[in-house]
Amino acid sequence: MIRLGVNIDHVATVRQARRAKEPDPVAAAVLATLGGADGITVHLREDRRHIQDRDVFLLRETVTTRLNLEMAAYEEILTIALKVKPDEATLVPEKRQELTTEGGLDVVGNVASVGDAIERLKGAGVHVSLFIDPDPFQVEASRKLKADAVEFQTASYSEAKTEAEVARELEKLRSATAQAVALNLHVHMGHGLNYWNVQPIVRIPGVVELNIGHSIVSRAVFVGMERAVREMKQVMQEHYPNPRK
Ligand code: PXP
Repeated sequence: MIRLGVNIDHVATVRQARRAKEPDPVAAAVLATLGGADGITVHLREDRRHIQDRDVFLLRETVTTRLNLEMAAYEEILTIALKVKPDEATLVPEKRQELTTEGGLDVVGNVASVGDAIERLKGAGVHVSLFIDPDPFQVEASRKLKADAVEFQTASYSEAKTEAEVARELEKLRSATAQAVALNLHVHMGHGLNYWNVQPIVRIPGVVELNIGHSIVSRAVFVGMERAVREMKQVMQEHYPNPRK
C-alpha cells in the first residue's frame, strides 16, 4: 500500500490566528496516527506563520511513525533540521508572499545550494526528498544530486479544469514516476489532493507515499481528525490496484 503522510500545518494555522496554545498540532499528530496515518508532515517556514520550532522538537519526541519535515534550504532552517533529525526532509521552494508552496523546486537551476543541503542532511542520517515538478530534467538532476526520493507536485493536476487537462497532467505524473523509479528514486506526491482526485493518483504504479494536508484537516473540522484520516486511508485502499499487497 501507499503510505499516507498527514500534513498538520493547518492545525497550527488555527492556533496562530490567536497566538494561543490550542489547537496543538502535537495532539493532531496523535489523532492522525490513531486514524492510520503512516507519517506526520510539517513545514517549518522561515516566517513561522504556522508550525513553530517548539512543534518540530515535540513532534520528534512524540511521533511514533515517520516525521517528514518540509523545509526550504535556508541556513537557519537547515541548522534546526540537523538538530531535530526528522526521518525525512522534503526540500521545497519558499516565497514570502505565497499562500502555500507554489510549484516545485528548481533543482536544475540550484544545483549548488540543493546539493549542499542534501549532503548535510544525508550526513546526519536524514532521508532527503525533493519537491519537484514532474519534469524529466528535474528528475535527472535530483538523481545526480543523490536525493533519496522525489515528491511530485500535484498542484497542476489538482487545479486542472478540463478532462483533457487532467489527463495531460496525469500522464506527466505517470511518466515522471516511471523515470524516477527506473533511477531508483522513491516517488512521493502531494499538494491539492483530496478524497476524489486522489483516486487516479493511487493507481499510478510506483508511488510509495502521498502527503496530504488541506483536505484532511478541512474534513477533520467537521468529523474529527481520526475519522478524516481513516476515510482517506480507506479511499486510498479501495483504489489501490493490489489491495492485498
Ligand atoms: N507536499 C508539499 C511539499 C507541500 O508543501 C504541501 C503543502 O504544505 C503538501 C504536500 C500538502 O498539500 P495540501 O495541503 O494541499 O494537501
